[in-house]
Amino acid sequence: MKVNGKPTRSIWLADDGWAVEIIDQTKLPHAFEISRLETLDDAARAISDMLVRGAPLIGATAAYGLALAMRADPSTEHLERAGKILFATRPTAVNLRWALQDVGARLRALAPGERAAAAYARAAAICDEDVAINHAIGEHGLGLIRAVWDKAEKARTVNLLTHCNAGWLATVDWGTALSPIYLAHDAGIPVHVWVDETRPRNQGASLTAWELGQHGVPHTVIADNAGGHLMQHGKVDLCITGTDRTTARGDVCNKIGTYLKALAAHDNEVPFYVALPGPTIDWTIEDGVAEIPIEERDGRELSEVTGRTADGAIATVRITPEGSAAANFAFDVTPARLVTGLVTERGVCAASTEGLLSLYPERHNRPEVWAVVL
Ligand code: MRU
Repeated sequence: MKVNGKPTRSIWLADDGWAVEIIDQTKLPHAFEISRLETLDDAARAISDMLVRGAPLIGATAAYGLALAMRADPSTEHLERAGKILFATRPTAVNLRWALQDVGARLRALAPGERAAAAYARAAAICDEDVAINHAIGEHGLGLIRAVWDKAEKARTVNLLTHCNAGWLATVDWGTALSPIYLAHDAGIPVHVWVDETRPRNQGASLTAWELGQHGVPHTVIADNAGGHLMQHGKVDLCITGTDRTTARGDVCNKIGTYLKALAAHDNEVPFYVALPGPTIDWTIEDGVAEIPIEERDGRELSEVTGRTADGAIATVRITPEGSAAANFAFDVTPARLVTGLVTERGVCAASTEGLLSLYPERHNRPEVWAVVL
């Protein structure tokens, strides 16, 4: 997508051909800053401190983290160590495990001297594949938006609601949930997006609003609690979110608050779709509530808010009383029964075992047994 008119991805190789550059997403929307990753520890810190975030981008950054590690020391011991360090950065998005296993398996089969080049090549391929996957998700999701517009006899704007940021900043390009919205906008379908602010880190208010604005998509930021009210008043045609991990039966784990939106959508008969790339499916588990590890982050993300003051400075202020405890659960699970459909790179399917297997028939032979680390 474009930033100030310039085509930009969320991660790329620096001009020197070995360092990795990312957009520091903790600075958006107030500043567009590029951060340079030179070491394994830089990559791990970028993921855990959320300079990069979003399931697909976490996976892509981890792949480049292995490449940086192999450049420094291609020994088998260091490969295993690097995998463990990267795997420990964030627990919920399964793309992290997927990328580490994919790259790690390829590297272990090679002599140490061949590993760095192979890791860089595979990381670049993962990025390119992610872009193609997300564009395909967009095309399939576009059909859903077009159907709403056709039903309204092309007479009015289509109102969509999204939670968190599942746009191009969360992937390498295009996004998952936002990809259909960009394609609809580009196709001339009038769309408007209700953007949940997404407390506590405000990925909606800070990132989704910013990237929709960069692309010229009409949008309105709303408090997280407003979605149900809007749905009751017929102001949402369709909800669409991303997911950090989808189980083999179609439960989806996404940013905290997604479940409440799905409940409100169900109660108001508003379609609730979830967009995901294949690597976000965890074929080894069924029950999302019982089996997906939910990240708990520092309570200060809840008790403090950062923003720009009237004089242009960036300031962090406390909003809770001194001494009040804050619990910061980062994700929740929406059971498959509340999901109208899953939008993947292979098409739209029911959120069910049968639905997923209809699109991924090669998984009939699961479970593929994955080692826990690499
Ligand atoms: O904590 P974050 O910002 O990494 O959470 C991101 C999300 O919840 C996204 O919706 C999800 O990763 C899907 S991104 C295409």
